[in-house]
Amino acid sequence: MEPILQVRDLRTSFFTSGGEVQAVRGVSFDVEKGKTLGIVGESGSGKSVTSLSILKLLGATGRISSGSIKLDGEELTTKSKKEMRAVRGGRVAMIFQDPMTSLNPLLPMGDQVGEMIWAHDKRLDKKERMEKVVELFRLVRIPEPEKRLKSFPHEFSGGMRQRVMIAMALACRPELLIADEPTTALDVSIQDQILKLMRSLQREMGMSIMFITHDLGVVAELCDRVAVMYGGMIMEEADILDIFQRPRHPYTMGLLASIPDMNMDKRKQLQPIPGSPPDMIHPPKGCPFAPRCPYAMGICLEEMPPYAQTGENSRSMCWLLHSDCPAEGNPFRQGKEALA
Ligand SMILES: Nc1ncnc2c1ncn2[C@@H]1O[C@H](COP(=O)(O)OP(=O)(O)O)[C@@H](O)[C@H]1O
Ligand SMILES: [Mg+2]
Repeated sequence: MEPILQVRDLRTSFFTSGGEVQAVRGVSFDVEKGKTLGIVGESGSGKSVTSLSILKLLGATGRISSGSIKLDGEELTTKSKKEMRAVRGGRVAMIFQDPMTSLNPLLPMGDQVGEMIWAHDKRLDKKERMEKVVELFRLVRIPEPEKRLKSFPHEFSGGMRQRVMIAMALACRPELLIADEPTTALDVSIQDQILKLMRSLQREMGMSIMFITHDLGVVAELCDRVAVMYGGMIMEEADILDIFQRPRHPYTMGLLASIPDMNMDKRKQLQPIPGSPPDMIHPPKGCPFAPRCPYAMGICLEEMPPYAQTGENSRSMCWLLHSDCPAEGNPFRQGKEALA
């Protein structure tokens, strides 16, 4: 089956007074129909720019310099602004971290979601639109939906506002939902509820999801596959179980070590990776993670590692996996297997 989204060698830059910010540097991945792909990585790794490139929401300074983005086989990079508007909020919908910035504080929630419905179907009158809104509120499990139509955004809790955003995204029955850190601003328990909601909505509606987060723990709840991003590149990509059971990249291992464990003292558990992300105006010529990598070798700073096939359906961009790299004492190689 053809993937719903196929991204190939995507490169996106921002042209600023300080120079060209190379935010995304050759990213390729697929989102399979009905599946969830997680894009994970620390802040600044290029996750949001990847998703904004798909929707061509890069602003005046951003530009896709090369690559291909296909939605169900149809190339998006060559589409006009008008055509892209039809794609956004049509076949592809997006939800962001902070619902308050996308909601009008002066407009009742029912009217806001109603506007979204009107934008896609101008035949419905106000009463029919409100019925649709109630239906959507019910879908995202907002209690007493009829009563909430006249409430304003500030009268909703953060979790309820994010439910409204999801309802708006679902109004047009998208084939692909792009969620960029939708639960980051929420308490852990509310976050969990939203993730469960998204999972059951996906089952009910059969849509595909691209879920962006800096938190590998969140990915475990929801995703079938994960792409781990750093320095504008995908460091490792694998099925969810492989990532947790057999991470094949030092950066992935670092992210795993920084997941808080509910059963343990959080202060002891959290181990952020020491060091800071690369300067994307002057990105390093070798592996972007090398300056922070506990296993870095000479070559890592000099040359970009090729992808090594680490399983039937997984790859990792690391010199440690190269066939020329000694297998002995190598945490990423099993015995003497050669991977690249
Ligand atoms: N509008 C912009 N202008 C210039 N640089 C930007 C812009 N948006 C993002 N960047 C830069 O692109 C890189 C990737 O950013 P982003 O995709 O937002 O990271 P993430 O979502 O993974 O936290 C960062 O170095 C960031 O500073
Ligand atoms: Mg982001």
